Amino acid sequence: MFKMIPELNNASVRMRDRGQVETIISNMQRAGASTLQVISDFDMTLTRFAHKGKRCPTTHNILHNTTLISEECKAKMSDLVAYYYPIEIDSLKSVEEKIPHMEEWWTQAHALLIKQRIRKDQLAQAVRASGAMLREGYSSFFDMLKENSVPLLIFSAGVGDILEEVIIGHGVFSSNVRVFSNYMDYDKDGFACAFKGELIHTFNKREGALQNIHQFVHDRTNVLLLGDSLGDLDMADGVQDLKNILRIGYLNDKVEERREAYVSSYDIVLEEDETLDVPNAILNYIT
Ligand code: C5P
Ligand code: MG
Repeated sequence: MFKMIPELNNASVRMRDRGQVETIISNMQRAGASTLQVISDFDMTLTRFAHKGKRCPTTHNILHNTTLISEECKAKMSDLVAYYYPIEIDSLKSVEEKIPHMEEWWTQAHALLIKQRIRKDQLAQAVRASGAMLREGYSSFFDMLKENSVPLLIFSAGVGDILEEVIIGHGVFSSNVRVFSNYMDYDKDGFACAFKGELIHTFNKREGALQNIHQFVHDRTNVLLLGDSLGDLDMADGVQDLKNILRIGYLNDKVEERREAYVSSYDIVLEEDETLDVPNAILNYIT
């Protein structure tokens, strides 16, 4: 099997149990593409963490490269990241400890964005000009799923409107893609005035997943899950009659400190890997 998928020997790959990964992939391959769904996170999973030594923006921060938001708003959003992001990835804090901080972060960031009177019809152009980047290999990834009619469910704690524009801007949004995220609401003049529905942050995706998955996907009992946070691990909890699941985790930051936790919870860990090569090779083998 590792002969069939040589990418699993890439230097970025870590596995707790190679044999188990092999069994899961063989089971999925035998069952075929018609039983498969892909459940993925967005920011820093489908998008790059870094490019040429520079951090890439998350959907919340993509607008920083545009004129749609004020300098004051950019500065405040950056201060929030500087304060809360280290808490989000702190390997010494429990999820329970982190949740109130995440709620504060998202609530403040959303309040700031709403004050900017962002117009829906300006968003697309701004996002496209911002240089937002999907990971290398994104076109094979999206094409393979589309050609094989494999549903791609994206669960993102980012900003849905921006996320969609990133995918559309790369020319890969099609009918097999469903997005669950924080979407903005617009007033009658087209200005963003609120965020819709329940807030999704890094550590409450499971609740949203439980409510949403079964409405969209039936009879897809094999799951390829992609994430970059330990909060992404339970995004498949709403799948009924789950048979096989392969979890692939991008370990982008604080690699040494978090390796153990990632390797013990994800089946495959990709360390500082800015490509979709490994997921693509697995999908290519299964479909
Ligand atoms: O798509 P995903 O669920 O990964 O999106 C959430 C990510 O966005 C978080 O991991 C967090 O680091 C980042 N974030 C941000 N600015 C905010 C809130 C979250 O960059 N205001
Ligand atoms: Mg993420």
